[in-house]
Amino acid sequence: MRLLVLGGTRFVGRAVVDHALALGVEVTLFNRGQSAPGLYPQLETVIGDRTVDVDALAGRRFDLVVDCAGYGPGVVAISADALRDSVDRYVFVSSVSVYADQSVPPVEGAAVLDDDSYGGRKAACEQVVQHCYGDRALIARPGLIVGPHDWTDRFAYWPRRFRRPGPVLAPGDPADPAQFVDVRDLAAFLVGATADGAHNVVGSPMPMADLLAACRAATGGDHEIRWVSTMDLLAAGVDPWMGVPLWIGDPRWRAANLVDGSRARAAGLTTRPVAETIDAVLAGDRGPRNGREPLSAEDERRLLGG
Ligand SMILES: NC(=O)c1ccc[n+]([C@@H]2O[C@H](COP(=O)([O-])OP(=O)(O)OC[C@H]3O[C@@H](n4cnc5c(N)ncnc54)[C@H](OP(=O)(O)O)[C@@H]3O)[C@@H](O)[C@H]2O)c1
Repeated sequence: MRLLVLGGTRFVGRAVVDHALALGVEVTLFNRGQSAPGLYPQLETVIGDRTVDVDALAGRRFDLVVDCAGYGPGVVAISADALRDSVDRYVFVSSVSVYADQSVPPVEGAAVLDDDSYGGRKAACEQVVQHCYGDRALIARPGLIVGPHDWTDRFAYWPRRFRRPGPVLAPGDPADPAQFVDVRDLAAFLVGATADGAHNVVGSPMPMADLLAACRAATGGDHEIRWVSTMDLLAAGVDPWMGVPLWIGDPRWRAANLVDGSRARAAGLTTRPVAETIDAVLAGDRGPRNGREPLSAEDERRLLGG
């Protein structure tokens, strides 16, 4: 298989490349050569700026293109149009953020946003790809993506938190759902699936209490876990999105962690045990981005009442 990866050097694209290489796939990258030059010296990297053109790919043929990081329909139209006759399949990495209503569990047929938000723009990108490729297009809609090289602290905060002593603030209710997909499982789906159309690429929802217990077990800790209700967190002025990582305090987003992933599972998505993700995150951890945790130790102590 000849695979073209648009992007490929940050997080999702990197996992796609690593997965494809492990399968023995012939991989070509297209990017500006800025984010991580030299990351894959053994691979051909075609240099170009996709916001301008992808002319440097003219005359090339690929079985599959994985478009990892398209954020606007105008830019995605450039590659989708240019590659129409030279790739068999176009796989676009979208997001569950396309769904207009996150207060009910999102399924693929549900209404999508039609505005200038991140999700609305992703939905417009999807339409561009669908229009050009029809049943040769796979639209992957991941929820929260976690695992190696995730540069955000949303998931990593939790395993890391159990490396510090002291009672751990847990947000909301122990039964509140957490939902994510390991980037390596997403990558396997992007490269291997033969289905077409939109697919929610998510893991099964798991109780937040189970996720925290798995983090504690992975670090060998015996921390006390203290739950602070959503009402109390909101009353204390904590940001209902990022104030405590993975906590969803806004009722309009109450189903954001209850996304139905059955269509992707039927199309071949498999998800690994959470312990594997936690171990990989701990093994590759280089501390919080910008040196600051999303919830500082001081704020955690204050919210726990001293
Ligand atoms: N993180 C999450 O939880 C989450 C959830 C749902 C969906 N998503 C989606 O997952 C994707 C994440 O993408 P990623 O950043 O991890 O992908 P990536 O392919 O690993 O990295 C981005 C790539 O794009 C290249 N690039 C950036 N600007 C470019 C340009 N103008 N022309 C050509 N190449 C360019 C970068 O290289 P150069 O800089 O060298 O050009 C880099 O290789 C996004 O589509 C996001 O919407 C993320």
